[in-house]
Amino acid sequence: MSENKRASFGGKLSVILVAAGSAIGLGALWRFPYIAGKHGGAAFVLVFLLSVLAVGIPAMLAEFAIGRKTRQNAVGAFRSISKRWSWLGYCGVICALFISGYYYLIAGWSLEYLVNSATGGLYNSALPFTEQFKEFQGSWRPLIYGVIFILITHLIVSRGVEKGIEKASKVMMPLLFVILIIMAVRVAFMPGAVEGYRFFLSCDFSEAFKPETIMMAIGQAFFSLSVGMGCMVTYASYFKKDNNLVSTSLNVSLLTLFVSVLAGLVIFPAVFSAGLQPTEGPSLVFVTLPEIFCDMPFAPVWSTIFFVLVMLASLTSTISFHEVLTAYFAEEFKLSRPAAAITTTTISIALSALTFSSLFGIDFLNIFDKLTANVMMPLGAMFTCILVSWFLERRFMKDELTNNGAVNRFIAPAVIFMLRYITPLLIFYIFAVNCKEMII
Ligand code: PHE
Repeated sequence: MSENKRASFGGKLSVILVAAGSAIGLGALWRFPYIAGKHGGAAFVLVFLLSVLAVGIPAMLAEFAIGRKTRQNAVGAFRSISKRWSWLGYCGVICALFISGYYYLIAGWSLEYLVNSATGGLYNSALPFTEQFKEFQGSWRPLIYGVIFILITHLIVSRGVEKGIEKASKVMMPLLFVILIIMAVRVAFMPGAVEGYRFFLSCDFSEAFKPETIMMAIGQAFFSLSVGMGCMVTYASYFKKDNNLVSTSLNVSLLTLFVSVLAGLVIFPAVFSAGLQPTEGPSLVFVTLPEIFCDMPFAPVWSTIFFVLVMLASLTSTISFHEVLTAYFAEEFKLSRPAAAITTTTISIALSALTFSSLFGIDFLNIFDKLTANVMMPLGAMFTCILVSWFLERRFMKDELTNNGAVNRFIAPAVIFMLRYITPLLIFYIFAVNCKEMII
């Protein structure tokens, strides 16, 4: 495909914001704090950092290289590199479908809470927050809000790569950073916040280096960096030839880490200051936090600001996996972009309805979440690393990482070494250890 026919993102900053937009989402704001809180606090942050460095960044670079070199959707990209490896592209598309099956619903919860905070309904209700959340879960509203979220995503993606995705990320990401910093500062002034910092930053190394915890950290690194399912392949297919892949991946990872840690520094001090216990899972954001806002002056305002933050972060992520599917349908089935986007949107609505209905009592949300983050994305990343470092010519990664010898000449060999020996082995090891534990 010729370079000038295909859309591309603008400058260096756009590329970072768009990729960071995909990365920073519910994973950083919602998943990270409760996993870290449960698995060793600051020690988990360290294990997560190591996972990002040892597996997340190399795998992201492998995806960037494949996407930019081939300039195609996930399936087309892997196929054009090697016909025998096109299954890896299909795995990415399937993973994007599974993520679509639950992510929009959770993003929809934040939309409902945003609306209810802005209208004051959340704080005027006679029901306690736990009951409000239960009542919401028991109604049709999660599906309705989930569908609204899908439609908002659709509007952005169908406008195209430059006018839709890039423009939205350039507005939403800076806003997200500003809101998060304002929240962190506000929370620091709450009485008793110190307890929360102590909880979040206390190190429990015995917990953090358990194989199960390392597995969680690696899973979180992939999920949070959107690596291992063709998303970064698709986005990189819109990069320009002179984008520096190494510095882009470092910037995206740093921003994701920064937001993840900052989210913990907002949530835990607030929780402790309100004399509550850090809970696990959805209730942390949708029950505990409203309880905290309730005690603050201007509760609906802070609550609205917080849920705008969650919504923005989710939206820049939903557009990225919507784009994986839209690019796939458009290019593989020769559909126009609007038709491809409508196809993706229709399937996403159907999958969300499936998850919502908990057909046959199956907890699809949990299954999709665990399956994608802990199995499909790590394995997808492992095989991508193996492909680029063992099956393709050495030149492939070298040329892409160095922009044909212009940049990163000293870093490239180290990255290639990681991709060949360290990253896939680490992922494999963690899998082997955990499988053994599961059997025993
Ligand atoms: N990285 C996103 C988050 O943390 C989730 C995501 C996964 C987005 C895979 C795109 C692809 O919320």
